[in-house]
Amino acid sequence: MKALLKWVAIILGGLLGLVLIISLILYGIGLARLNRTYTITPRMVKIPNDEKSLREGKRIFQYRGCEACHGEELQGVIYLENPAIGQVITPNLTSGEGGIGAKRTDLDLVRAVKYGVDSDGKALLFMPSTEFYYLSDLDLGRALAYIRSIPAVDNQPQPSELSATGFIVMNLTQEITFLPAELIPREEDPPTAPEPGKTVEYGEYLALSCPVCHGLEFSGGEIPGFPPEWPAAGNLTPGLGSRLPTWGEEGFIEIIQNGEKHGRAIHPDYMPWTSYRHMTDQELRAIYLYLMGLEPVEFGNR
Ligand code: HEC
Ligand code: HEC
Repeated sequence: MKALLKWVAIILGGLLGLVLIISLILYGIGLARLNRTYTITPRMVKIPNDEKSLREGKRIFQYRGCEACHGEELQGVIYLENPAIGQVITPNLTSGEGGIGAKRTDLDLVRAVKYGVDSDGKALLFMPSTEFYYLSDLDLGRALAYIRSIPAVDNQPQPSELSATGFIVMNLTQEITFLPAELIPREEDPPTAPEPGKTVEYGEYLALSCPVCHGLEFSGGEIPGFPPEWPAAGNLTPGLGSRLPTWGEEGFIEIIQNGEKHGRAIHPDYMPWTSYRHMTDQELRAIYLYLMGLEPVEFGNR
């Protein structure tokens, strides 16, 4: 009996040691990924300052989700706070005290938005540049013009920091992208963005953020990597279980702009319609056209 216990202890001890070693290795890999420096010289975009561009820039900042993550006054907000991952806080983008506005050149801003890299060349955490890489020069220029035009706010958010387990988790999960910069085709020039209009191509351009939650096939279902209490994302293709064909174009516009249709309410904490409602009817028509032209996929096949 004693000998058996001894062996059990040895095996358990060995396993524990192994887990510890693997954790240390994963931690080291995470640290190296975060500290990697990227040398990127992006193509500069024109930053306008006329009234119309600033108005449009604000709208782009809203419907592309920037405002939801950066705050209404661009003052910086807590994006994620979870002991298993750490805390991720958006910086104050204004030129007030504690803000980065005055410290960043226009080129720094382009690099951050398109390539997810800060002014030291380090990858930004969770900043979804995998979508913004495709922004047209016009849209990006207007969004940056808006950032440059906002009043200074004094606010010094803490810097983002991963926890010890966060460095490990980032190497184990495929479902959550910690460092979007890693996935961006840095060597190629981004494709030319389509012209605005009610076209499939422009609809696709406006729908770049939907697959994160609705799946690469747009067929919805439970969102991997998100808290289990979240509702499933709906099917956005014309496939089985999709409400979109019955709603029609006008119904689709209605639900995105008001969060409600035929008594079906969608919650803004889960589905960011409060960002998307800043799109015009024409823009939403382009998205609907694009979605209804997708391969019909049954609900839940991501
Ligand atoms: C899903 C949330 C999210 C969205 C959407 C988002 N950001 Fe960010 N952004 C972040 C986070 C988080 C950081 C800070 C990351 C860090 O601390 O490593 C950041 C950092 C930045 C920075 C600072 C880079 C630096 O030099 O330090 C800029 C500029 C920026 N974002 C602009 C934008 C713009 C413009 C948009 C919309 C086109 C946008 N962001 C959309 C989360 C987001
Ligand atoms: C952050 C995750 C997230 C993103 C990004 C997102 N959605 Fe959603 N969406 C959801 C969730 C979750 C639901 C279900 C909400 C509920 O049941 O309350 C939903 C529901 C919907 C619905 C209602 C579907 C139905 O059958 O009831 C539509 C339409 C929709 N989304 C369109 C879009 C479009 C278009 C985009 C991109 C422009 C998008 N969503 C981006 C999470 C998201």
